[in-house]
Amino acid sequence: MNGCGSGCWMGICEPSLALSIVSGSQTDALVSDYSSKNKSSTGQKARWQAPAVESCAGGSSAPAMARLREKAKHLSMLFRELGKTGIRLPEIGIGTWNYRGGVEALRAAIECGARLIDTAESYGTEEIVGEAIKGRRHQVFLATKVLPRNFRRRDLIVAAERSLRRLGTDHIDLYQLHWPNLTIPIEDPMRGMEELVDAGKVRFIGVSNFIVRDLIEAQAALGKQRIVANQVRYSLVDRTIEGGLLQYCQKNGITVIAYSPLASGVRNIRAADPERVLRRVAQASAKSEAQVALNWCISKENVIAIPKASTVAHVMENVGASGWKLQPELAHVLEKRIRYRRRGALEMGARRAVRWGMQKLGRWQ
Ligand SMILES: NC(=O)c1ccc[n+]([C@@H]2O[C@H](COP(=O)([O-])OP(=O)(O)OC[C@H]3O[C@@H](n4cnc5c(N)ncnc54)[C@H](OP(=O)(O)O)[C@@H]3O)[C@@H](O)[C@H]2O)c1
Repeated sequence: MNGCGSGCWMGICEPSLALSIVSGSQTDALVSDYSSKNKSSTGQKARWQAPAVESCAGGSSAPAMARLREKAKHLSMLFRELGKTGIRLPEIGIGTWNYRGGVEALRAAIECGARLIDTAESYGTEEIVGEAIKGRRHQVFLATKVLPRNFRRRDLIVAAERSLRRLGTDHIDLYQLHWPNLTIPIEDPMRGMEELVDAGKVRFIGVSNFIVRDLIEAQAALGKQRIVANQVRYSLVDRTIEGGLLQYCQKNGITVIAYSPLASGVRNIRAADPERVLRRVAQASAKSEAQVALNWCISKENVIAIPKASTVAHVMENVGASGWKLQPELAHVLEKRIRYRRRGALEMGARRAVRWGMQKLGRWQ
């Protein structure tokens, strides 16, 4: 449906996008095994191995999964390198904040190639993610987050152990600092992170909601590891990161993981789009509005997106946001005609001051 299957789109080769293009059923070679036997002392040196495609019977009904697998054959997923790690991630993953889809939607995401699953200790979804990936762990790139209140070295390690237990796994692929903690020196969590990598419990270190200054300080606090990703809000209606953070990440090989890429619901994009531009672009592209909104996010260099989807239908629709390219004129219209927010330095500074005050009082996570 979406791609020509050769890393090209409409006959035009896209080197930046063409890391890999495969159908949903072929992605095992890309999101592959990091079992304990492969772990090196630094964790990051171990390469994923391509495992055999696994049976998906059990849990979700086998006939339903077989039907899904059949449908997934028609979907294509492009991949992006995670930081400078050589690991390729699907450019569409799945988020699980407020997730209500049981194991089915998550397993559909795995079947369809959206094998980056994002959760957090604060979401209350690590258990359901753990259940969904049982028997499929090697196919999934698992990302979770630690709350700022657990940034003391020892607390961070204990928090990671708790997440590992809830997720039912022995390693987290990407462990992210959920928000900056403005009251704890960044050296503290980064020491904990490096210990977790050395112990093989974490493969890669990420952050979330970090501004450029935070990124620089966090990287300086690390010894041998690099920050590979920054998870931040990015959508057609919130383009704050275009004020410098996006460019910094692109320049420094830090993957931007776009959260709330559908603005927490397509209706919120429509509310900023009185001329119905999104709908018209979707019609002109023969895609859905959600697919266009997601494709716009991942059309930016270094950006991948993690829409939350609680239904199999939404998961499959979102996977269809990858494997094709929005025409530049249409992307331009979206950018010009849909109202968006770009918070300036003053507003960001004020929000940070409030967060610092609340963290100081112990009232903010
Ligand atoms: N790091 C952070 O601080 C942070 C903050 C917020 C979010 N996140 C991460 O980012 C993920 C996504 O962000 P989000 O949950 O705020 O919002 P989102 O992904 O922008 O939007 C989710 C909403 O869109 C709906 N939806 C999904 N696919 C759709 C489709 N194809 N057509 C129409 N509607 C569709 C979902 O409905 P259904 O659920 O009914 O499918 C849900 O109501 C979170 O789950 C979380 O993992 C991180």
